[in-house]
Amino acid sequence: INVAIIFGGYSSEYEVSLQSAHAIITNLDKEKYEPILIGITKTGKWLRYQGDVDHIRNNTWYEDDSNCYSVVISPDRYENKLIEFKKDGTVQITVIDVIFPILHGRYGEDGTLQGMAELSGIPIVGCNTLSSALCMDKDKAHQLVAMTGIKAPSSVVFTRNCSQTEIFEGTNQLSYPLYVKPVKAGSSHGITKVYQKKELSNAIKEAFLYDEEVIIEENIEGFEVGCAILGNRDLTIGLVDEVEVPGGFFDYKEKYSLELSQIYVPARIDQELEKKVKEAAVTIYRTLGCSGLARVDMFLTPDNEIVFNEVNTFPGFTTHSRYPNMMKGIGLEFADLLDKLIQVGLE
Ligand code: DAL
Ligand code: MG
Repeated sequence: INVAIIFGGYSSEYEVSLQSAHAIITNLDKEKYEPILIGITKTGKWLRYQGDVDHIRNNTWYEDDSNCYSVVISPDRYENKLIEFKKDGTVQITVIDVIFPILHGRYGEDGTLQGMAELSGIPIVGCNTLSSALCMDKDKAHQLVAMTGIKAPSSVVFTRNCSQTEIFEGTNQLSYPLYVKPVKAGSSHGITKVYQKKELSNAIKEAFLYDEEVIIEENIEGFEVGCAILGNRDLTIGLVDEVEVPGGFFDYKEKYSLELSQIYVPARIDQELEKKVKEAAVTIYRTLGCSGLARVDMFLTPDNEIVFNEVNTFPGFTTHSRYPNMMKGIGLEFADLLDKLIQVGLE
């Protein structure tokens, strides 16, 4: 089975993708799957990559002499094609069976790539176009999930040309501290925790570096939990994990260094609450139309209320990342997890 593995990406989470891709490529069952690597550079070039996998991890892959432009597209919906434009002017065509998009954040995890695959009739691992787009949009996801009765943080949304007055009036109803976030981004890029009104303006400027829309949410007391889900109709539910962040804000540095923070798998909660968290995660997964996989992130308040945070349709995927660890907790080892994801993608 030829698996087109797309990594990197025109996204603020490019570097994270390289780490996920390295782990996935290294652990893929090569007897069953033939990985065909396509890297997207930070500036948006699509390159067929045939070099050393370690050069993906250390971000030198894009300098490889053998790289050539490539696209995954099918001019005929029943003939899935990878097209390489060789430097000597020739074109090479490879049939692919499925796309494994190891891309985090915008232009990869947000429905754009999924749309390309759907248009071409190429099976793809993970959520479809609509679901990926909804999950990437924190505001739309919150609104839909709130309709199921699961609470979402109180928030307001602003577009780029909003005025100071609009911001002050809009945030008047919210109680500090607040989180200022780009509506569509990941790994906490562009997010600031704001304790006072006077800090708002700089935080908003920062968030606008990543997106045209900014969401300002109330802080939720308590701690974050995640739930790993795999499947289309029949679902495999991993363990629930818990993020302990002494500093209160799980920012980019903390997410990937875990200097002060700690992740507990399973979460230190009782069975009854764990069951409720899993049920909420499944409701969220279904409501947002997820398929393939997702990590559903929620908060648990001091009175054990579940508050929705966000869904990551392609969560961090190194061998020590949260999603693979939650699945490992139910006996699904990394290589078997990849196998299952591809099989579910081909369903
Ligand atoms: N957005 C990062 C990759 C995560 O959720 O794990
Ligand atoms: Mg995220």
